[in-house]
Amino acid sequence: MRITKDTVFFITGGASGLGEATVRELHAAGARVAIADMNVERMDLIKAELKERVVAFKCDVTKEEEVKAAVEGTVKEYGTIHAALACAGIATVSPTLSSKGSIDLNLFKRTMDINVNGSMYVAKYCAIQMSKNPAINERGEKGVIIFVSSVAAEEGQRGQVAYSASKGALNGMVLPMARDLGRFGIRVVSVAPGIFETPLSHSMPEGVKKRLNADTAINRAGQPDEFAHFVRMCIENGYVTGVHLRIDGGTKFSNL
Ligand SMILES: NC(=O)c1ccc[n+]([C@@H]2O[C@H](COP(=O)([O-])OP(=O)(O)OC[C@H]3O[C@@H](n4cnc5c(N)ncnc54)[C@H](O)[C@@H]3O)[C@@H](O)[C@H]2O)c1
Repeated sequence: MRITKDTVFFITGGASGLGEATVRELHAAGARVAIADMNVERMDLIKAELKERVVAFKCDVTKEEEVKAAVEGTVKEYGTIHAALACAGIATVSPTLSSKGSIDLNLFKRTMDINVNGSMYVAKYCAIQMSKNPAINERGEKGVIIFVSSVAAEEGQRGQVAYSASKGALNGMVLPMARDLGRFGIRVVSVAPGIFETPLSHSMPEGVKKRLNADTAINRAGQPDEFAHFVRMCIENGYVTGVHLRIDGGTKFSNL
């Protein structure tokens, strides 16, 4: 899918970190962007800075009706949606068993609710809209849905049972969803970042960050613009679908 001034993107979690970097990348490419996030303050700042071709919706992705309303609001503003990035997510830590107790099941459920159910709502309502698009090129493409997984889906650290399960669920959804939606001209991809420097990862202790960086092939965390560029590649290449792709600087985590 070629990105033009007519291309419309819907991005949850677009008020911070990886989602925000993708908003900026696609906006700089000339497209129209809709941000759906709970952080109204950050969305207002981004809107004020980008000035045009950007709208924002206060949206908690765990609430289906709020996701639906944000998708409908985007369509009202821009006429349709061509690509969706479900980037809203949380990273949680709660060990199955430790000297302090056992796994916090409410946290487990909340992690699944935001990371899995929230992404599913985005996929459902964006797919309905995308299927109504006329083909945007001679190959019949109408839209692309991108989930944000994590290398933790395959290499979860201690305490990451909930987080890893949620990201593994997204990877598992990709192929059947791509098969379901292929006939409608819609692609589905899951992007799995390694360690990136964002507000989410800033909360980690310095020592942990250092060890995680040492497990990459280039001894550093990724930058959000590198993630955004990868998402853009997935949007632009019409043969990428039904797959989960890592962007991780050659990460192979040791058993920390
Ligand atoms: N940063 C990393 O190293 C890393 C690595 C692997 C995967 N990821 C994934 O990338 C995604 C983005 O992470 P980030 O590092 O940019 O984090 P971040 O904390 O900087 O941004 C997350 C955004 O999601 C929003 N959000 C959280 N819960 C929400 C909800 N219920 N409804 C709507 N919006 C909500 C927040 O307001 C925030 O703007 C997440 O899914 C995360 O799991 C990040």
